[in-house]
Amino acid sequence: MLAQGFYISIPIISIILKKGDIEMELIKTGTEGLDQILKGGLRKNSSVLITGAPGTGKTIMALQFIYYGAKDSNENGIFISTEEDLNDLRDYAKNFGMDFKEMEKKGKIFLYEKPVAMLRGGLVSLSGLLNLIKKKKIQRIAFDSIIFFEYLYPKLSNNTMEFRRQVLLFMQKMKRANVTLLTVSERKITDLDRLEYDMMDFVFEGFIMLSRIRKGSYFERVLTVEKMRGQEHNLDIYPIAIDKKGVRILHDQVPFSLVERQEEKIDFK
Ligand SMILES: Nc1ncnc2c1ncn2[C@@H]1O[C@H](COP(=O)(O)OP(=O)(O)O)[C@@H](O)[C@H]1O
Ligand SMILES: [Mg+2]
Repeated sequence: MLAQGFYISIPIISIILKKGDIEMELIKTGTEGLDQILKGGLRKNSSVLITGAPGTGKTIMALQFIYYGAKDSNENGIFISTEEDLNDLRDYAKNFGMDFKEMEKKGKIFLYEKPVAMLRGGLVSLSGLLNLIKKKKIQRIAFDSIIFFEYLYPKLSNNTMEFRRQVLLFMQKMKRANVTLLTVSERKITDLDRLEYDMMDFVFEGFIMLSRIRKGSYFERVLTVEKMRGQEHNLDIYPIAIDKKGVRILHDQVPFSLVERQEEKIDFK
């Protein structure tokens, strides 16, 4: 099942890349330290998945992508939440110094929650989203979480292959509409040594993993870039810091939990 998903996804993704404009323009991720790891940032108009265990910083990173994209890079954004109430989300973002209300007032950011009231009639549809992208000059979209695709294609949840095909077509449309797409997903097993890939993972051009490493009674949050199609990036494991300024990736540090683990292995005989 796993191998099948992998082999089938590659030709479809490459078609998308061939058809789209292959530009190497890089955009800032909004997360300090991540741009350095990605050697400049995310490829403009690409699709990236941020996946990991609960509480690892995925939502904050998605909020930063949209907020700082609008504020510092002048790229208007849409954030669609299937997880949280929008007022809670605004308050949550404010804890980390992001004033979404201000950017919403300026018409630079648009927040939606499931079941997405963006369309007249309250229905989710691709054409509705594309209209909004055009009208509001949207260049960044974040889905928190991947479950949004199930709202978009409700009839396909039992047909995995067709569901994936539709999601790939969706990404192709986003690329053509000049939108960079960041999607969040959650997974139970994030042990970097026995990582199991999900069918949907291969649909995205980029794949960033947030996990926890245990050292005794302490957990450390870490980030790895598993894949970034057509782009050079570092493969190391980086510590993540979360404080009132949000999520930062300590791109010039090694997780202390791993350093200590390596030291334990040293044989002094
Ligand atoms: N003010 C804060 N200072 C430090 N850490 C925080 C703060 N607020 C939230 N966190 C941490 O951020 C994590 C939640 O990040 P979030 O992006 O919402 O996670 P998820 O990956 O589940 O989307 C929590 O584990 C919490 O410990
Ligand atoms: Mg979350």
